[in-house]
Amino acid sequence: MILNTQLEYKGDLFPATIKTYKKDVDVLHFSTTNNVILQLTVLRDSVLRFRYTTVGKFENDFSYAIDENASRGYNHLEISDDDEKYIVTTSKLICHIYKSDLRKSIFDAKDKSLICEDEKGFHWEESYELGGDIVKMSKAAQNGESYYGLGDKPNHLNLKGKRFENWATDSYAYGKDTDPIYKAIPFYTALHDNKSYGIFFDNTFKTYFDFCHERRNVTSFWAQGGEMNYYFIYGPKMIDVVSNYTDLTGTPELPPLWALGYHQCKWSYYPESNVKEITSKFRELNIPCDAIYLDIDYMDGFRCFTWNKDYFPDPKRMVKELADDGFKTVAIIDPGIKIDMDYDVFREGLEKDYFCKRADGPYMKGKVWPGECYFPDFTRPEVRKWWAGLFKELIEDIGVKGVWNDMNEPAVMDVPGKTFPNDVRHDYDGNPCSHRKAHNIYGMQMARATYHGLKKFNYPKRPFVITRSAYSGTQRYTSTWMGDNVASWEHLQIANIQAQRLALSGFSFAGSDIGGFAEQPNGELYARWIQLGVFHPFCRTHSSGDHGDQEPWAFDDDITNIVRKFIEIRYQLLPYLYTAFHQYSQDNVPMLKSLVLFDQDDSQTHYRTDEFVCGNQLLICPVNEPNAKGRRMYIPKGEWYNFWTNELVLGGKETWVDADLDSMPIFVKAGAIIPKYPVQQYVGEKSIDELTLDVYYKHGKEDSELYEDANDGFDYKKGRYSLRKFNLSGNDNKLVIRIHKRGKYETPYETFKFNLIGLPFKVKSIKVDNEYIDLKDVKFNGDNSLVLSKGFTNLQIKG
Ligand code: GLC
Repeated sequence: MILNTQLEYKGDLFPATIKTYKKDVDVLHFSTTNNVILQLTVLRDSVLRFRYTTVGKFENDFSYAIDENASRGYNHLEISDDDEKYIVTTSKLICHIYKSDLRKSIFDAKDKSLICEDEKGFHWEESYELGGDIVKMSKAAQNGESYYGLGDKPNHLNLKGKRFENWATDSYAYGKDTDPIYKAIPFYTALHDNKSYGIFFDNTFKTYFDFCHERRNVTSFWAQGGEMNYYFIYGPKMIDVVSNYTDLTGTPELPPLWALGYHQCKWSYYPESNVKEITSKFRELNIPCDAIYLDIDYMDGFRCFTWNKDYFPDPKRMVKELADDGFKTVAIIDPGIKIDMDYDVFREGLEKDYFCKRADGPYMKGKVWPGECYFPDFTRPEVRKWWAGLFKELIEDIGVKGVWNDMNEPAVMDVPGKTFPNDVRHDYDGNPCSHRKAHNIYGMQMARATYHGLKKFNYPKRPFVITRSAYSGTQRYTSTWMGDNVASWEHLQIANIQAQRLALSGFSFAGSDIGGFAEQPNGELYARWIQLGVFHPFCRTHSSGDHGDQEPWAFDDDITNIVRKFIEIRYQLLPYLYTAFHQYSQDNVPMLKSLVLFDQDDSQTHYRTDEFVCGNQLLICPVNEPNAKGRRMYIPKGEWYNFWTNELVLGGKETWVDADLDSMPIFVKAGAIIPKYPVQQYVGEKSIDELTLDVYYKHGKEDSELYEDANDGFDYKKGRYSLRKFNLSGNDNKLVIRIHKRGKYETPYETFKFNLIGLPFKVKSIKVDNEYIDLKDVKFNGDNSLVLSKGFTNLQIKG
């Protein structure tokens, strides 16, 4: 007998005709004659979940990404059918499901326009190599459709025409076209005909997304295992798509305010005298800084949770002395635990059986900084608990304030693929699986465990964690950076794209290694990078340290002065940034807004990459080239003030903006009220006696917000916050500002100092809460700044 070793390739398989339909409150089941089931869950009027099985039965429904507090509930749900299709109608969407093949089309419920339709729709391939299905989905691309999102991809902001892979990878010195890199965030938003929708493919296996690359009119996504399980999110505003995705996958609590300050890092500052030299220099040169980082060399032979006592003889004393000088210490902790029977973390992990194992039994052994290591299985709840407990000494006893989780893709040195082999087993919170499924969430679960450790031992203060690897939802636990970038002009641009893209992907609290990690920037590049970095939610200089220094003073005095000037701007803007963080945390609004997110109706914005809006009202555009005296940029529609000159410009056009090395293009939206603190060397250095409000006059209306609380601790969750809403309206001879305050927190200052910018008239009268005040009684300086007690609700300034 001849054995046929050639397995039959069946090609793509498709659902057959729908045989039965069943409704279970908000879950609809459509079963086909070939055992495919589509489970459609109506989460909200604008959020539908589609889940498919090919074997007539679903796996346990479990996701690390979905936030348990995600909103659910809809206003309207109606299901009908005709010969051809089922029709599911909510107040926002109409979804057709075709009886013949299970394909779907989704329409706007109001104007009935087509938003998104299946091309082949769901199909799959039986993979003998992987031993399961490759699950696939394809959609017809609409005319002029654009795509955004996917986490940390370094390429052009608009993903159209490209194919991407999601597989968390340690990517030292990656380039614009390197893919994949550190994170796996399988979420994108699409935009056509002024309408935006999003797709979140919640599948942790290696996933692929093709945006009209293979076939011009088709977008598709597929995974090397697991379920076809995706969420369809309708806007039509892109900002609502992003907010809904962010609501689904969660937002972080507020960070301590100091975490929004400037951070200084290098691989590595040691011994203690070197750390002190750096921190003292910041104070000596009056360059604000809140955090100093200890990279792997603080440890004893790179063993996590230990100290090299030669370099750091008394860490507790050092950390306290740094704290007395306003510096919070952040220490790195990697996942690899050195194989060493004399090392208690290793011994305990071994005794308790907490390390990952290969499919056939042996421990997963891999080389990282300490040499051969084992790796905790962070997908087991008891391992996460143990890990969290390991932080007691570092946080509670020694006083370290933040933890930096690195190498958690997980990275393994000197092996092909730079990570665990696929066969490694994981608990996956009681859903045992191989590394193929757990790889992309390994870093997330590590950061989650770390976060819980910090939350416990730093109590009642807020935790601060930073991670390199991430999957959707990781933003609930930690901030992030973009990994090992390069000191090049191209990477300055990449950093800008990545920060915007992460914000578009639900992960706002992100920043790049300012100046570049690999290689060395010159002073000009470093200065230009700081200018961008101070407008990113996370702001840290970091470098590999194997070239020269990369501190603000490492170049020449001119550069130091420029760097100081921009870090000072960040410190002045802290209440503005903190308010943006509050809006992110509370209302799911991204802290950075790419122009397309800011004004999707203006097609000029669809392919812009350099300009972005930080918060809601500051338009930023870094200078990405050497020797520049300025640059061309697109100013979105509306009126904007030049931040430096207060000159008013009308947007909706590309324009040249002057920006010598000590400047950069910054514009403020007309009508904005921008809150400012005095410059401090670190958060809390000064008591805030007066809050400055820069008021940018507008003929028309504009709303602004100011969120404040104790800047740390959790009282804000019990209502001890202050949220002021400012409604500004102006006309030719009048400016009116109404203030509504919410929350039980009393801000420490008594007065506001208003700087009135762009007033087209000379002030003749001021009415506060319906009472005219004598111009002589207010500190009205003639330069259009006035000081008023903070309690009023209505201010009228007339000319
Ligand atoms: C990795 C990190 C980098 C860190 C280095 C040493 O390369 O990405 O930030 O400095 O490891 O810990």
